[in-house]
Amino acid sequence: MIIRRVTVLGGSGFIGRHILHELSARRLAVRVPSAHPDQHKDLRILPGVELVEADVHDESQLRDVLRDADVVINLVGILNEDRRRRFDDVHVALPRRVAALCGELGIRRLLHMSALRASPDAPSRYLRSKAEGEAAVLAAQGPELQVTVFRPSVVFGYDDHFVNRFHALLKLAPGWLPLPAPRARFAPVFVEDVALAFVRALRHVPSYGQVYELCGPKEYALWEIVSLIAEESGERKWVIRLGDGASSLMAALMRWLPGKPLTPDNLRSMKVDSVCGRDGLPDGLAALGIRPTPLEAVLPYLFGQLGVRRRYDRLRRFAQRDEDEWLGRLP
Ligand SMILES: NC(=O)c1ccc[n+]([C@@H]2O[C@H](COP(=O)([O-])OP(=O)(O)OC[C@H]3O[C@@H](n4cnc5c(N)ncnc54)[C@H](OP(=O)(O)O)[C@@H]3O)[C@@H](O)[C@H]2O)c1
Repeated sequence: MIIRRVTVLGGSGFIGRHILHELSARRLAVRVPSAHPDQHKDLRILPGVELVEADVHDESQLRDVLRDADVVINLVGILNEDRRRRFDDVHVALPRRVAALCGELGIRRLLHMSALRASPDAPSRYLRSKAEGEAAVLAAQGPELQVTVFRPSVVFGYDDHFVNRFHALLKLAPGWLPLPAPRARFAPVFVEDVALAFVRALRHVPSYGQVYELCGPKEYALWEIVSLIAEESGERKWVIRLGDGASSLMAALMRWLPGKPLTPDNLRSMKVDSVCGRDGLPDGLAALGIRPTPLEAVLPYLFGQLGVRRRYDRLRRFAQRDEDEWLGRLP
């Protein structure tokens, strides 16, 4: 299969940016549709990356961004619904439409992002909708379209939504942090391992038709991860492990906070362990020759330095706001 052009849906997000770096480094032409291209201007400096404004839920705009692609990577996903964004639209209808358009446009390769423990019987709507999306793309595969599905546990790295969220909560906490679902289990996987898995799978024939689990090398209870974050970041707070009743109450309250730090649906997702090997599916990192990076190896580097994107934003803000002052200071 000759691969020159890749369209990455959701490429402006946390995982997508790492995939873009890998694709750009391999000199592929990459198209990234975004509803908010102005917020992702930094991507324009990546060689070969074309950032375009598009609403991927609009079929004709979606068709335009997929046109000419040899491969589609679909990373679009949400953790919580709101009035505008429903799981059914984002996790089910969109993948179904993408797979159908691959057939119509003669695109032969589709890599689809799902989530570990997705299942029609899962306790949360998030995991059930991810399972429906997987089923839709897998149903579309055949000799003309090769599909690979990835199911990561929680993903960590610079600018992630997990370590950074708990770090922010620890910073706000007065001396103790009440932690819902403390015994929920995860096998955090490093974002650069996930990005490498996607890129290695592009031409890897044995990955055709596979549903790959992606996990880090070690399993932890949530309270252990939060204690590690507290230790490594220097925000040494007492982590109070809440029981089921108090966890539900916190989720019911926190869903109304800005950014919805925790919702009842998130809590239901945590009722199943987000660890590999429970569903009889292959280990994607092993299959693609990637040695998983331990959380402990990366965690010390996540604090005390800004993530790539925030560093860029800060530079840009500084350049615009203080342009005269900056020029005045030049020797
Ligand atoms: N992060 C994790 O720990 C983790 C774990 C398991 C699975 N996953 C899955 O991996 C995928 C990527 O995760 P991520 O953490 O990189 O997410 P993210 O940072 O939130 O990025 C998601 C991207 O999708 C686009 N997007 C979001 N909502 C959209 C909508 N309603 N319609 C169209 N585009 C939308 C956004 O692009 P614009 O705003 O620029 O349009 C954004 O770039 C998701 O499918 C997620 O469910 C993530």
